[in-house]
Amino acid sequence: MIEEILPPGVRSAEAFDDLAPAPLFPEEAALMAGRRQRRRAQFATARACARRSLAELGLPPAPLLPGAGGAPQWPDGVVGSITHCDGYRAAVTARATEVAALGIDAEPAGPLPRGVLGLISSATERASLERLGAEKPGVCWDRLLFSAKESVYKAWFPATGRWLGFTDAEVRLAPAGTFTASLRPATAPPGTASRFEGRWLSRQDLVLTSVVAVRGAPSGGGP
Ligand SMILES: CC(C)(COP(=O)(O)OP(=O)(O)OC[C@H]1O[C@@H](n2cnc3c(N)ncnc32)[C@H](O)[C@@H]1OP(=O)(O)O)[C@@H](O)C(=O)NCCC(=O)NCCS
Repeated sequence: MIEEILPPGVRSAEAFDDLAPAPLFPEEAALMAGRRQRRRAQFATARACARRSLAELGLPPAPLLPGAGGAPQWPDGVVGSITHCDGYRAAVTARATEVAALGIDAEPAGPLPRGVLGLISSATERASLERLGAEKPGVCWDRLLFSAKESVYKAWFPATGRWLGFTDAEVRLAPAGTFTASLRPATAPPGTASRFEGRWLSRQDLVLTSVVAVRGAPSGGGP
């Protein structure tokens, strides 16, 4: 499903459950020791997805440990992203020579908990959600906005090592399945990208988003 919102060159693998216990490298297993079963299972299935995705790039299985800020440490020359939520796990990878930054996010397709939208959005974004809801009902637009921002963060952080608050990016969702994210001027240091393009999908009780900065594309040179 997620491949529908990814360009060629980005490899992906996904799972809708944790049926078979996925094997972990010893250092990964050590990291999960003492963690709750649910977290261990989603961590392991996401790593199985990541290794399938890496195999499609022609790369051997490798431990995938969290680095600074929780971002996964990919093999040299690879960019990637991981997501998991109830009923869904996925990982995507690409050659860093082709893709500068990559972020994916999955969320259950239900409204955000009361009070959250006001914390993660601007007045402009909230007004646009109203319009989108009227134009295309049946899509969980507030959850989609949240997911788009998480995808932006997952693409942004590994490249810059910098925190990004939810209101540091202004996201414009389009009904046809795309979005743009513009960072506030003070947020992006000189030489880093301040605009991202993404895609979204709403299906099977899930919303999925992706942000891919393809090298050489008009706004894809950064971060
Ligand atoms: C880190 C964060 C984005 C994860 O999103 P989530 O919806 O909670 O959880 P998901 O299951 O989709 O993603 C979890 C995966 O994200 C990845 N991740 C965690 N921190 C990350 C970071 N700093 N950069 C990139 N990826 C990160 C990890 O691979 C993690 O899975 P793992 O622990 O099994 O390796 C979220 O918890 C967070 O901190 N958000 C606040 C920052 C933000 O989103 N700002 C919006 C800017 S517009």
